[in-house]
Amino acid sequence: LFNVGFEPLGRRGSCPEGQSLLDCARLLDVDIVSLCGGVSTCKRCVVQVVSGSVSPPTPEDMASFTEEELKNNYRLACTTYPESDVKILVPPESLSAPQRTQVEGLDLQVEPDPFVRGLKVHVQAPSLDAPESDDQSLWVALQNGHGIGPGQIDLKVQQDLSVRLRDQSWKAAVALRETEIVAIGTHAARWLGMAVDIGTTKVAAYLVDMETGKVRASMGMMNPQISYGEDVVARIYTAGKSEENARKMQALLVDALNGTAASLCEEIGADPSHVVDAVVVGNTAIHHLFLKLPVRQLGMSPYVPAVRSAVDIKARDLGLHLAPGAYVHLLPNIAGYVGADHVAMLLATEMDAQEGIILALDIGTNTEICLNCRGTMKSVSCASGPAFEGAHIQFGMRAAAGAIEHVRLSGEQLEIQTIGGEPPVGICGSGLLDVIAQMLNNNVIDRSGRMNAHPLVRTRDGRKEFVLVERSDNGDITVSQRDVRELQVAKAAIRIGIQALLQDAGITERDIEKVIIAGAFGTFIDVESAVTIGMLPPLPLERFSQVGNAAGTGARMALISRSRRRAAQRIASQDGYIELASIPDFNRKFAAASSMSWQ
Ligand code: FES
Repeated sequence: LFNVGFEPLGRRGSCPEGQSLLDCARLLDVDIVSLCGGVSTCKRCVVQVVSGSVSPPTPEDMASFTEEELKNNYRLACTTYPESDVKILVPPESLSAPQRTQVEGLDLQVEPDPFVRGLKVHVQAPSLDAPESDDQSLWVALQNGHGIGPGQIDLKVQQDLSVRLRDQSWKAAVALRETEIVAIGTHAARWLGMAVDIGTTKVAAYLVDMETGKVRASMGMMNPQISYGEDVVARIYTAGKSEENARKMQALLVDALNGTAASLCEEIGADPSHVVDAVVVGNTAIHHLFLKLPVRQLGMSPYVPAVRSAVDIKARDLGLHLAPGAYVHLLPNIAGYVGADHVAMLLATEMDAQEGIILALDIGTNTEICLNCRGTMKSVSCASGPAFEGAHIQFGMRAAAGAIEHVRLSGEQLEIQTIGGEPPVGICGSGLLDVIAQMLNNNVIDRSGRMNAHPLVRTRDGRKEFVLVERSDNGDITVSQRDVRELQVAKAAIRIGIQALLQDAGITERDIEKVIIAGAFGTFIDVESAVTIGMLPPLPLERFSQVGNAAGTGARMALISRSRRRAAQRIASQDGYIELASIPDFNRKFAAASSMSWQ
């Protein structure tokens, strides 16, 4: 028996000798993508051996990896056998979708230097000889113990201060934000912060230890505002129609965040009153709705935000139940459709410090793209729509058990992989991208997206459809001509955004040295499929990197680092913005961009 550990999931256990890493993963319920079922043809089960020894690379490994990658111990899980206890790193793209959640992102390489500091104090009790007021005594203790001069005390904290100092024998911990005390607790109190990335469809939240900067708990959930419209344009319209709608949408979000704070705290045995700072990022419309700012002007040319600068506001003024005096910091916006979440993504990927020509995309219901061309950053926003979330697709579904997430077609031979290996029930975004790329490669559709005659294409009710799974009980799972069109619209929006940036910079896609793909969906997609259908530029695959939820990472950075918070402001003011609607001949260009090739 060998001890096998799979990171970053942290799952480990014993596996019998003679079992491949893929077998071990299955034994330990780690869902590694294996489209070919483990016969070494799909090359999807890539893992990296971090420690311990394994069997030497096979010819399949040698065909799949560069020399450099082999030296760095990259292997196919299905051809590799442990020869000792081993630790294995599973890259996100080798994991089945539910195991990659929208909270995963880049590791933080930031020294904690938060706006809110935790300080322990031992306060001198008053006496008849020294009848100091409680607030004065507290500031004297802070001066003596930490060299901190007098500042302000939040009124709610002040209301609690006298009783608390006496109950706790004059020992306490305070949370100090610049010069203001925003919370007071027991001497042992451990202060927390919350970073939240509010997407149009999904929300990712992280509870962070303010001293170490480490994530203590995290969770993803749906944005409850979805009932008021699937995309931001619909939500702007609904909120603009009546104040009541806007109020309800804000309240829904606040309730969800209060619930999230409570469950994250419960998970680690803490209380939301220990959350002394929060950073929230979202696109401009979500940012405005959250702050109860008007959104109507976002829906009208020239689409300007009400506020661009970063905002600091008391959490309680928004209805959030955190520490009594806690603030919420919202990163700055860039434009009406390029918001604080994009700034957070640029912060996390250090776009401003990158050299050469770099493209970064955050793919979602709304896709923001930034091109850094030798030090000049410009961004665009494109309405890619909810097709990637499975919406408006006949058998579309979210990335959940039974969703078809990967597809290979060769002639009439179909191979599908579902999430969790469950019987197929529908198709999620990455599966849709895969199946359409495979249909294109096998001439089931042509470059215009039209379906051709093919043994797996049939006509039902006068409409053509591609049969993906035949099911006797629940009816077949098919991809319709309309589904293909939906994906074409989504991909055209992204492609036209990239092309507008390239044109503005006077370069071509061949000049791009690196493409960073952020966002939960961006992590799940098969880049090769996205290139095949002309959604992403045809560049060598090694120029692409998939970094997970970078907006969430940026929010965490701004939570624990003052310098990163300042950098966000700098990035927002440096980044230029191109309004796609102002591009001449937009409609004709959009139609051309829906063709299933880059050119
Ligand atoms: S499972 Fe297909 S190559 Fe390993």
